[in-house]
Amino acid sequence: MDPIQHPDLPDSPFTRAPFEVVDNVALPRWSADIWEMVEKFQAKPDDLLIVTYPKAGTTWIQEIVDQVNWSGDVESCKRAPIYDRIPFLEYFVGPTMPTGIELIEKMPSPRMIKTHLPFQLIPKSFWEQDCKALVVARNAKDCLVSYYHFHRMCLILPEPGTWQEFFQKFMDGQVCWGSWFDHVKGWWEAMSHHRVLFLFYEDIKENPRQEILKVAKFMGKVLEEEVIEKIAQLSSFNVMKDNPMANYTTLPVEIMNQNISRFMRKGQVGDWKNHFTVAQNAEFDEQYERQMANCSVKFRNAL
Ligand code: A3P
Repeated sequence: MDPIQHPDLPDSPFTRAPFEVVDNVALPRWSADIWEMVEKFQAKPDDLLIVTYPKAGTTWIQEIVDQVNWSGDVESCKRAPIYDRIPFLEYFVGPTMPTGIELIEKMPSPRMIKTHLPFQLIPKSFWEQDCKALVVARNAKDCLVSYYHFHRMCLILPEPGTWQEFFQKFMDGQVCWGSWFDHVKGWWEAMSHHRVLFLFYEDIKENPRQEILKVAKFMGKVLEEEVIEKIAQLSSFNVMKDNPMANYTTLPVEIMNQNISRFMRKGQVGDWKNHFTVAQNAEFDEQYERQMANCSVKFRNAL
């Protein structure tokens, strides 16, 4: 990558490069740089894809999936930070750190793989192998707010600009991983022809045990009621925010500066009400109606 240094961190090897467009979708430049490798990725039939639009609760569902896989064994789930336990398919921040694909290739099966890619960019081999995909979606307004604060502290993403500027970019799909609307619609439709479990952040928040049970069933795991209860507790916001293996504090400050904003920020439904102006809300609702008119997905507490 050509260096586009962060102004506050002149010696950092990491950069806030602008996004690049791959097949009409904005991606971080570090993903675009390895796109050929991502496209050619060879999936195995028992790979489980964990799919989210950024800030939809990726880390939360990763923790839940890992806990389910290890039947709630606390020590096993402390073995490494979440980004090593469940690697990120399209991740590559520089030659000194392994790519997501390198980490995945070292994993024993069944492999669990995180991605933010929209449906149409998923490497073909996942569908040739009939892999399962666990999708978590979060209402767009909370995603937008969370994504804005994340851009402020995640120094390998493009500059967010002001809140109003970021709001506009998000509405126009001019942010990394593209339009929230297209992402959700693509994955919602994928359910009709692939093995997709589609969950909602708001549902996990309201009834974690019920949603964890769905995850376990989807993964072919039979867990005792008390194990489900334990996983619900271990994956709660209050526990995860203090767990260094889940809260990203193990990453260098040049990648995530948690003094600007915590990765585990609020973990609430409806925080958008503290950020949206009346005008932004009206513009958002109008665009939501238009963009989602032909899609049957329903978000609770969304509008
Ligand atoms: P907020 O910024 O609204 O607090 P991702 O993992 O996709 O990057 O999403 C991060 C968002 O999920 C952040 O949202 C974070 O606080 C929230 N989150 C992480 N773990 C959570 C948990 N256990 N319960 C609820 N929200 C959680």
